[in-house]
Amino acid sequence: MSLRVRATIMQTPAPDRLEVLDDVVVDVDDAGTITAIRPAIELDDTDTDTDADADTVVLPASTVLLPGLVDCHIHAPQWPQLGTGLDLPLERWLFEYTFPLEHRLTDPAFAAEVWPHMVGALLARGTTTASYFATVSVETTTMLAETCARLGQRALVGRVAMDHPEGTPDWYRDADATAGIAASRRSIDEINALGGDLVRPVITPRFIPACTDELLAGLGRLAEDTGVRIQTHCSESDWQHGYAVDRYGTSDTEALDRFGLVRPHTILAHGTHLADSDLDLIAHRHAGVAHCPLSNAYFASAVFPARRALDRGVAVGLGTDVAGGGRPDLWSQCVDAVTASRIRSTGVDARIPADQRGDAGAAIDIVTAFWMATKGGADLLGVPVGLLEVGRSFDAVAVDVTVPGTPLRWWPGIDVDPARRFEKLVRLVGPEHLRRVWVAGRPVNGIVASDPVPS
Ligand code: GUN
Ligand code: FE
Repeated sequence: MSLRVRATIMQTPAPDRLEVLDDVVVDVDDAGTITAIRPAIELDDTDTDTDADADTVVLPASTVLLPGLVDCHIHAPQWPQLGTGLDLPLERWLFEYTFPLEHRLTDPAFAAEVWPHMVGALLARGTTTASYFATVSVETTTMLAETCARLGQRALVGRVAMDHPEGTPDWYRDADATAGIAASRRSIDEINALGGDLVRPVITPRFIPACTDELLAGLGRLAEDTGVRIQTHCSESDWQHGYAVDRYGTSDTEALDRFGLVRPHTILAHGTHLADSDLDLIAHRHAGVAHCPLSNAYFASAVFPARRALDRGVAVGLGTDVAGGGRPDLWSQCVDAVTASRIRSTGVDARIPADQRGDAGAAIDIVTAFWMATKGGADLLGVPVGLLEVGRSFDAVAVDVTVPGTPLRWWPGIDVDPARRFEKLVRLVGPEHLRRVWVAGRPVNGIVASDPVPS
């Protein structure tokens, strides 16, 4: 056994269930897999084996252990425009801001600066797994995979495939479908050749408007041949939804499905315009949606019906959609997911009578949001994380709720109820509270991992 952590755990095994495990001991083997979780009191009485080999970490009572967060949708080459460029609709934002920046990230020298800056900042915020859209370049995509492996972040890394002569600029696209399929195959091989368990390739057609039919069909066959997962954008806005209807006379989901792209663990980003029939098809295929609530407020022209999707059996995780989403951390996406669902539920225009204004029953709470950010996202991606339980990987964060000068505080006699404590933690936590971050049992938070942990 390589690691033993004694702590109180807060986590969400199901969308409607908060679990608190008071003062438990978590044992982690050399591979980073959790082998036991036992009440500490049991261990004191019965276990005299103090395990001299184990790196034992005893978290103070003011610190809570939670599963690491899973970002199901993030664009690595958009990192330098994080927090900016949110004033245009999607179709103009892509051409005027985003494609030019992504093109710059095909330069290995610039990528060598951006990738570690981004991965370090995400790990420091508790994002232990991310599903990345990288660039069109095989070279800088492989560099991103190497960076994740080196800094210890679990990741799916996708070379972006895009070849449509109208949906992409001629200076940032695959030469044609054949070249795009070959480049995606080469990217898969290069990422697989890195070895290790943390980083995997993912087939990444950008979205239907950027891809020819030949490319979409070829990538569907590539997925079938290799078993590699798929990610793409789906039904993100009125414009994208309408585009698929114009081109195919079907929904985005049905069109992607005909190309063999809606498969187990396919990650469909946004999905704000999905019809119930689309949701049912996605559930049937064991695919799912990366819900990006902050980005959706700027680009999607609608709020994703998260409650309805869950009720229809669709896998749902959370995504930052950096940089369409202007914040890097998933904690704030949890808050945004709750806020967006509340706005959807009440409606927005007070001139309409209250009983006709909103989508009653659409609201989700912080427990459901955190579940999407952890277990829900892990299930969507098909990685064994998102919950601290035997057999899953020890990807976890330690949150100190007593950092001076921050709003996160559990007031004695007031914040007593565990549900209240949990909600306060998720809503108010920042990187300054994250004492430790582990991926597969390895400390990965460069800023504080070397600090002695007070006991
Ligand atoms: N659709 C196609 N590309 C993108 C992108 O980079 N961001 C978002 N939000 N939507 C897209
Ligand atoms: Fe996106």
